[in-house]
Amino acid sequence: MARIAVFNQKGGVGKTTTALNLAAALARREQRVLMVDLDPQAHLSAVHGKALGDVADSVFAFYHDGTPLAQLQIEWEGIGQLIPAHAELIKVDSVFGKGPTILNRLNEGLNQLGTDRGECNVVIDCCPFLGVLSLNAVFAADRILVPVSSDFLALRGALQVERTLQALEPVLKRRVERRYVLTRFDRRRNMSFEIQKRLVEQLGEEVCETVISENVAVAEAPACNRDIFSHAASSRGAEDYAALTGELIRKDFF
Ligand SMILES: Nc1ncnc2c1ncn2[C@@H]1O[C@H](COP(=O)(O)OP(=O)(O)O)[C@@H](O)[C@H]1O
Ligand SMILES: [Mg+2]
Repeated sequence: MARIAVFNQKGGVGKTTTALNLAAALARREQRVLMVDLDPQAHLSAVHGKALGDVADSVFAFYHDGTPLAQLQIEWEGIGQLIPAHAELIKVDSVFGKGPTILNRLNEGLNQLGTDRGECNVVIDCCPFLGVLSLNAVFAADRILVPVSSDFLALRGALQVERTLQALEPVLKRRVERRYVLTRFDRRRNMSFEIQKRLVEQLGEEVCETVISENVAVAEAPACNRDIFSHAASSRGAEDYAALTGELIRKDFF
């Protein structure tokens, strides 16, 4: 059982999509999953359908009032649990950004919840900027999954993520286990293969063999409040996310 942060400082690369579909793929393998939405944009919570509500019921209350994470979990049918986000999370940096204990806050909250005892996997959906929230995710996680969309700016972004993680390692006093996964891969475009080649040249075995194809069902599923498996089980997207999860399990990433 692992704690995975789905992390990239760049927006629109497939973090939320990957967090949800990875969690759903794990759930289909009979593994319990807790998802944590740490993005003030609350896209993952929006996909749930009933999770957007009072700020007191969101992860903001954990930071602001010390509400235990156990009280904030809601059920996500077919997957496990979700701790929802709220737009107020944008204030976490300015209000709680100082002090040495803040970076470990989520780690400690999850420890209290008992997830360190191996009861369930935790998948954290990060926001697209590096601040207290993202650092909380990195400090709490024992694995980082970095989605990289198959375009040149995203390639640059991935190398920036690598530099960030390397810079954090002396602070964390451990190596951050990480994998990069290409998303929105279009086999009709040479550019997708070019990006893949360059990513592997730069990051080697940390790049997953599985790529996530550009797939309309993947893009449509959130509008139906669904993950890819419940929305379109025989789609290319479902096949890819199942293969990614299989690869990560085979390679002991979970
Ligand atoms: N494999 C895919 N095929 C088609 N559209 C995708 C795919 N992955 C993500 N998208 C779409 O790309 C956009 C950005 O994805 P999202 O997961 O929200 O990125 P992030 O969380 O990194 O900002 C969304 O509209 C999403 O539906
Ligand atoms: Mg997102």
